[in-house]
Amino acid sequence: MSRQASKQNRHTARDICGLKSRKQAFVCLTAYTATMAAIADRHADVLLVGDSLGMVVYGFDSTLPVTLDMMILHGQAVTRCSRRALVVVDMPFASYQESPEQAFRTAARIMAETGCGAVKLEGGAEMAQTIAFLVKRGIPVMGHIGLQPQSVHTTGGYRVMGRSEPEQEKIMADADAISKAGAFSVVLECMDEQLAVAITKRIEVPTIGIGASESCDGQVVVTDDILGLTPGPYPKFIKTYSELGRAIDNTLSRFTADLRSRKYPGMENTYSAKKNIAG
Ligand code: KIV
Repeated sequence: MSRQASKQNRHTARDICGLKSRKQAFVCLTAYTATMAAIADRHADVLLVGDSLGMVVYGFDSTLPVTLDMMILHGQAVTRCSRRALVVVDMPFASYQESPEQAFRTAARIMAETGCGAVKLEGGAEMAQTIAFLVKRGIPVMGHIGLQPQSVHTTGGYRVMGRSEPEQEKIMADADAISKAGAFSVVLECMDEQLAVAITKRIEVPTIGIGASESCDGQVVVTDDILGLTPGPYPKFIKTYSELGRAIDNTLSRFTADLRSRKYPGMENTYSAKKNIAG
């Protein structure tokens, strides 16, 4: 892509931050591959190269084993094959939690090697200093609070957050701290609706919900989930719009039946020389 094309068309973190006042929810879709990036770019305001790729693409049972090198390779594919959406790349587990300096080195590699427009990291008040450190050094940061998949071992697994008053107060304080630290938007994952409403009203930057009700300024989904590509059962907040997993299964079944019965390849799929090589 020429520099001119990328300059003209690509949304920036600043543009996304400005969508807070829009009535219509904005759209963030995960993309990990060239194929999905090219298609999703036609529909999304933001493409998230989420560390959920650890489960969706690599079959891990959590996001913890995902490495920085994996995120960079997938981030490169997504920026290369999209033109319009802001590309945000997740910082993987253990690549930023140690110190602001470690986070800067990781984020700088991601930005320089993928060409993405922002990074995302998980964490509340305890990450505010790191977020401010990155933003001051030119790195736009999307925050992520509520259910934080990289911390499930300390927070009690995959569950709805903010059901008790102390937890609601903590998550509200997290939202305050990271928005004040300079995050340009904040993902709210799997939380009580009333809490999502209150945070969205209170903070100045857009909230992006996943399992956090329609009240958020934008919504993010794992694209493979809504396409019916990932194996269920799905949590309540996911609505599947297609059965692509089943469609692939049917297609491969018809294809392999044709192969086994020698219906494919047919003459129309075969190169035949006018003259036989053997004469
Ligand atoms: O990794 C991911 O896909 C995410 C979204 C679920 C927000 O963090």
